[in-house]
Amino acid sequence: MAFRLYSVKIGVVFIIGMAAVLGLSVTTGWCRTYVSGTVLTADGKVVASGAVALEKGALHNNAFLAGGAIGANGRFKIPLPSGGPWGLHVYSEKYIYFPLQIQVTPGVDNEIPVILPVDGQPADDPVISDIHFSKLSGEVFQVRMQVNDPNGNLGPQMLAIDTRRFKSYRLVPQSGDLKDKKADFPAGLYVSPYIPAALDGEDLQNWLFVVADHQCSNGPVVNGLGQSVFKPPMVYSQKLTCEVAGIWKSNFDKIYRFSQPAPGQIAGEQFEGNLIIDRMVQKKNRLLVNFQLEGRKGESELALTCRENRVRLEGRYKLADKSGQWIFTKLKNAETAQTGRKLFEANCAACHFAHSKNNKIGPGLQGLFSSPRLPDSDRPTSEVAVRGQIVDGGRKMPPFKHLAPEQIVDIIEYLKSL
Ligand code: HEC
Repeated sequence: MAFRLYSVKIGVVFIIGMAAVLGLSVTTGWCRTYVSGTVLTADGKVVASGAVALEKGALHNNAFLAGGAIGANGRFKIPLPSGGPWGLHVYSEKYIYFPLQIQVTPGVDNEIPVILPVDGQPADDPVISDIHFSKLSGEVFQVRMQVNDPNGNLGPQMLAIDTRRFKSYRLVPQSGDLKDKKADFPAGLYVSPYIPAALDGEDLQNWLFVVADHQCSNGPVVNGLGQSVFKPPMVYSQKLTCEVAGIWKSNFDKIYRFSQPAPGQIAGEQFEGNLIIDRMVQKKNRLLVNFQLEGRKGESELALTCRENRVRLEGRYKLADKSGQWIFTKLKNAETAQTGRKLFEANCAACHFAHSKNNKIGPGLQGLFSSPRLPDSDRPTSEVAVRGQIVDGGRKMPPFKHLAPEQIVDIIEYLKSL
């Protein structure tokens, strides 16, 4: 849930004043920017340990800046200093690591689907040893570690992640960084930049270390005491709904989000790669897709089949010069709260705060459904009353008769989550 700073006008003025004094940027609004996600695996589990690191800007530019830990529930949530392009890297022992270029919307929590392939050859994974923290002054320290790789193809990602302050640092060979910063990194001693924090009193278990090689294998993720943080992944038990809206993985190992922005409409996006979905039409259990791959137009007809918890879309794709089998396996249901949140932002946020009870133009809607009475009229809280308010409007609130019943359901589901 986004964290908001406003309380009363005087508080806002005070915060702007403080921000000016501290030289902070307030241009992104009052909400913090987050990237979050649940880390699933291609073999149908939720990981229970691991690390996340983010580069500012283009993927693989090595400008590591932010990071955090994956919790025992497979979730991560990392505050970012700004929106825009970021490179996301997710690591968990026994899985192949996941690099993804993401576009972060400022001021909101950006939920990203992450699916890690199984690491079939853990024996060739790089290994970290001899982590050493050295104090340079009261406020600065540095970290060193030894890195080895059985198959000698280390990449540039030698990372230290400060999970408490949500920062990541890239370590470089003691002999100096490689010019192109891409491949063939040597085994040996790696050093961090100067880290601007006091080493005294630091809990080294809050630090995570990870190294990836050029085939995207990472070895154990270890803490600052050199201990592996590995916990066995858990079976993923979400009941998959037999519908097109959701997160899917194709037989080309690409991840897609298919959504239903309005009744009768289907939209799709690919998370990484060069496929653009132009149009999707659903006719019963058939899905007709028009797409572009690297600028070339293609089409496909997929059939939706659902057996127990195995939901698939399957058919052939056709491009001018080739065709083939396209199989999608459903990984997650669509998150209604996600659609609801977007609808709320588009229709309601101009007048209502979602994360505060303070008045904007209308009353703040935080905790709406957990209070017994509605904030303005003092009527008893019920879905019927809130639906009525949305559809018919109020004294000063405009009516939203143009919203489809399903969209109103989504908004109400979102309001319940506040
Ligand atoms: C143009 C401003 C505006 C927009 C847009 C707006 N509201 Fe309101 N809303 C108000 C005002 C003002 C009130 C105070 C009571 C009234 O005027 O009916 C209110 C009251 C409410 C209440 C409290 C009703 C009660 O009985 O206490 C709810 C719930 C609510 N709005 C939900 C929404 C939702 C959901 C949306 C988006 C679909 C939305 N509002 C869009 C201005 C707005």
